Amino acid sequence: MISLSHVSTTFAARGRKPLTAVDDVSLEVPRGSIQGIIGFSGAGKSTLLRNINLLERPTSGRVSVGGTDLTSLDDTALRRARHQIGMIFQGFNLVNNLSVAQNVELSLKFAGVTSRRERQARVSEALEIVDLTEKTSVYPAQLSGGQKQRVAIARALATKPEVLLCDEPTSALDPFTTATVLQYLADVNREFGITVVIVTHEMEVIKALADDVAVMEDGRVVEEFPAAQLRREDFDPQTSIGKYLLSDGIRLDRRSSAEPGPASAPRLASDPDAGSDAGSDRSPQAALAGSAGGVR
Ligand SMILES: Nc1ncnc2c1ncn2[C@@H]1O[C@H](COP(=O)(O)OP(=O)(O)O)[C@@H](O)[C@H]1O
Ligand SMILES: [Mg+2]
Repeated sequence: MISLSHVSTTFAARGRKPLTAVDDVSLEVPRGSIQGIIGFSGAGKSTLLRNINLLERPTSGRVSVGGTDLTSLDDTALRRARHQIGMIFQGFNLVNNLSVAQNVELSLKFAGVTSRRERQARVSEALEIVDLTEKTSVYPAQLSGGQKQRVAIARALATKPEVLLCDEPTSALDPFTTATVLQYLADVNREFGITVVIVTHEMEVIKALADDVAVMEDGRVVEEFPAAQLRREDFDPQTSIGKYLLSDGIRLDRRSSAEPGPASAPRLASDPDAGSDAGSDRSPQAALAGSAGGVR
């Protein structure tokens, strides 16, 4: 469904060394599957995800979605092709002064659905999928984080895409809400056969949802394996980054200050950048649990 062939993305800033955020990545995502992409902050995950819908046009390489080579399309054709690709983000990206229904409707307006009645029917349909029909006329400020992300999912689904790109969709949510949101993603994958690509730094999210895993480091996919491997006792990732991501929990240095030896910074084994990435309201306990254990 998605085929990335030798995709690279280099950012050139004046007076600075060019930065290669995505470095020669080739990846095949089968139709109807859920591809997880995991790596630490700065690995190039968001850039690679944005390469898939050409929100960030790669410097080189080929991107094909549903058999169409997106890199070869002109702007008009690309805009049309993008309607088959929905996207959700860590920060939800809702428009605050529009109601829930209007937020979802916006994507249909952008997609060129001119009939108001059709837009309204599709808005209701999309909000029903995420069980938010009773929130139709409220504003984003009145919603919880999980509800906001469900609105974002509805907005992405309204255009009936074949692919859903998810950039750290649960990184701002507590573990329970994470499980709820992941369940909706699992459901839309199963019920509508939507191909899902999910970028995260949380291994628990990958374990709960993904069919296949790609590990990214320094712009490269350094390791790929089926997610089922993660449930095997004897699974041994090939790369050190893979091993590190697989280890769970936060390790803290709890030596008292009276003890000798240099004090080391707290260490987040599964989630080293949660603090900077997820905002200040995220407690270490939440990061520790990082749990999506309630997911079927
Ligand atoms: N628009 C941009 N201009 C310049 N550098 C960028 C841009 N977007 C991302 N980068 C850099 O590319 C690298 C990868 O970033 P990103 O794809 O956001 O990684 P991740 O999502 O894994 O944290 C980082 O070093 C980041 O600073
Ligand atoms: Mg990112």
